[in-house]
Amino acid sequence: MNTHQRDITNYQRIAKLLSKNHIRRFIKPDCLSLLPELNLRSDQRILDIGCNNGRLLFTLATFLDDCELHGLDIAEGQIRKNQKRNRYKNLQFHCAPAENLPFANNWFDIITCSNAMNHFPQRVRALDEMHRVLKPSGELYILEGLRDGAWKQKFDKILRQSRFIRPEKKHLPRTALFSKSYFIHFIK
Ligand SMILES: C[S@@+](CC[C@H](N)C(=O)[O-])C[C@H]1O[C@@H](n2cnc3c(N)ncnc32)[C@H](O)[C@@H]1O
Repeated sequence: MNTHQRDITNYQRIAKLLSKNHIRRFIKPDCLSLLPELNLRSDQRILDIGCNNGRLLFTLATFLDDCELHGLDIAEGQIRKNQKRNRYKNLQFHCAPAENLPFANNWFDIITCSNAMNHFPQRVRALDEMHRVLKPSGELYILEGLRDGAWKQKFDKILRQSRFIRPEKKHLPRTALFSKSYFIHFIK
């Protein structure tokens, strides 16, 4: 196994461990439930959209010091708090709407969006923006809380209207014992 492959295996092991830390994740999957799903590698540029308090990114920053991490949220106060709390050189926070991402085309290797899509006023536009800023072969991971089956259908329709047409993976996470969430993984 070369150093690069060893890094990847280590990242995955740490991600799995960190995602299992809290019992409440079995009750309601949160952003850390995404951790074991992510295809983490060295030197990646990662964006979390609707990052809120930066929980996912601050966790990633504890073991991904060779990746560039970005968090984006429309809530100005929250972004200011995150910036104040941030001690990591490879982590930045941006205040902007998901529907108008302040990044160049083909910029990110990984985009995550957890429990945020249902808050966006223009969901198809937000998805198309994610598509624009993802590199070719870049990956989008969505975790979405489901209030009922109707929301899953509505959400599937939104996805079909966007540039992300065929997902690689789609499932209800195994951790969702009491509250259902919907996990979707796309490769551009
Ligand atoms: C329920 S929180 C999810 C936070 C986090 N991703 C998690 O899973 O714990 C939803 C976040 O989406 C943000 N949000 C809502 N509309 C947005 C938009 N149009 N663009 C960017 N962020 C938005 C909110 O400010 C909020 O922080």
